[in-house]
Amino acid sequence: MAIELKTKDEIAIMREGGRILSKIFNEIERILKSGMTTYDLARRAEEFMNNYNVKPAFKGYRGYPEIICVSINEEIVHGIPSTKKLIEDGDIVSVDIGIEYKGFFLDSAKTYAIGDVSPLALKLIRVTEEALWRGIEKAKVGARLSDISWAIQEYVEKNGFNVIRDFVGHGIGRRLHESPNVLNYGPPGMGPVLQEGLVIAIEPMVVTGSYEVKILNNGWTAVTVDGGLSAHFEHTVAITENGPQVLTID
Ligand code: MF3
Ligand code: CO
Repeated sequence: MAIELKTKDEIAIMREGGRILSKIFNEIERILKSGMTTYDLARRAEEFMNNYNVKPAFKGYRGYPEIICVSINEEIVHGIPSTKKLIEDGDIVSVDIGIEYKGFFLDSAKTYAIGDVSPLALKLIRVTEEALWRGIEKAKVGARLSDISWAIQEYVEKNGFNVIRDFVGHGIGRRLHESPNVLNYGPPGMGPVLQEGLVIAIEPMVVTGSYEVKILNNGWTAVTVDGGLSAHFEHTVAITENGPQVLTID
């Protein structure tokens, strides 16, 4: 599939949607606590989306049954909210939210520490978020797509962690997943030259152990095979003449 570049007007609409998604994350952060289930969290997220008049992007996507993904500890992505899944002190919780706003999709994820978490878990969260920003910095006109990939991989591995290979970032716009795939690993200087109007979701998933994954019996949830911890940060980013514009911040 070809890359679909966005006009300035389209990016302006996506910026509005991204601001809303950022506000939804602020609300999530305020109510997220130990003792609630991931189902409770999804219902609150649903309430916030309704308040802002935006639609959930994930529900029904390839049959995904819930409105957000909540992935705890060794879960990497696509944790399905459940009344049986309790959020506890010491957990790290990755919340992934996609919305549709005026015909455009926005996608973002953050990982939160619940109460007292281990120093290793805290470092994992910090390194994953910083890796995302190292990638974003490379999202400039004239760079190559894999400059982003390499910036992420290099920073993660320098810090003793690994990046997941089986899931990648993506173009985004009138569809949740567009071309190109945005890998979180690989040598620099490869792939398409970045052009003004390209909008991508950059989303490193980083693990403390091996990057080998398996899918749980629910057909969705990806976990580390070795039980290592996993963190996930994601922003939707537009490449503009003035450099990378992060759409999913306030
Ligand atoms: N942020 C993830 C992605 O872009 C979430 C997708 S969940 C799904 O792939 F349910 F929509 F598949
Ligand atoms: Co995504």
